[in-house]
Amino acid sequence: MSELLFVNACVRGERSRTLGLARRFLEAVLAKHPDCSITERNLCAERLQPQYPEVLAERDALWAAGRLDQPMFEPARQFAAADQIVIAAPFWDLNFPAILKIYLERISVTDITFGYSGKGDMVGQCRAEKLLLITTRGGSYSGELAWMEMGARQLEALCAMYGIPSFQCLCAEGLDDVRNDKAALLAEAAARAEALAAEF
Ligand SMILES: Cc1cc2nc3c(=O)[nH]c(=O)nc-3n(C[C@H](O)[C@H](O)[C@H](O)COP(=O)(O)O)c2cc1C
Repeated sequence: MSELLFVNACVRGERSRTLGLARRFLEAVLAKHPDCSITERNLCAERLQPQYPEVLAERDALWAAGRLDQPMFEPARQFAAADQIVIAAPFWDLNFPAILKIYLERISVTDITFGYSGKGDMVGQCRAEKLLLITTRGGSYSGELAWMEMGARQLEALCAMYGIPSFQCLCAEGLDDVRNDKAALLAEAAARAEALAAEF
C-alpha cells in the first residue's frame, strides 16, 4: 500500500478552487489505486507556530540532543516517509501562503528530510519519488511573466534538496482575469488533473 501525503494549504477552505482541483485529483488517484492511503495535513486547522526565537531554540536544543523522535519533528518524519506528496496551495503575492512556508521550515530538518555526505555535499533523505503542487492563480505566470512566479520554483528547488527526483505542477491560471472564461479554465484543469492522476 502506498502512502500519499496531502498537504492542504488552501486558506479559503471549501470555497477554494485550488482545493476543488486537488480533491478532483485525489479522487481520481483513489479510483485508479484503491489501495493508496491518503493522509491529509490541513495547515489551517493545524496552525503550526512559526519559528519564533523560542520555537527555534527548542528545536535546536532537541536536535543537538539527538531527540529526533520528539513531536516537534513529527511533520518532518511524516514528510520523509511518504511515498508520494501532493501540496495544494493557492498563488498569493507571487508565491504560496505563509502557512505553507511555516510548514516547510518545520519539515526542513537535517538528518530527517535532508543531510550531508561525508564530503559535505547536501543529500536528500526523503523517500518520495514525486511531489505534485496543485495551485490556481488569478493571473497568468507561465508565459513571459514566469520569472515572477516564486512558489512552484521554490518547491521545485526544495525537492532537489529533499532528494525527491520528480516535481510537477498542476495549475489553473488566469482565473481572476475578466477576459477569461473561469469555468472553462477550471474544467480544462480538472481534465488535466484526471489525466495526471492516471499516471501518478
Ligand atoms: C491574499 C491573496 C493574494 C493573491 N496574490 C495573487 C498574485 O500575486 N498573483 C495572482 O495572479 N493572483 C493572486 N491572488 C489571486 C489568487 O491566486 C486566485 O484567486 C486563486 O485562484 C485563489 O485560489 P483559491 O480559490 O484556492 O483560494 C491572490 C489572492 C489572495 C487572496
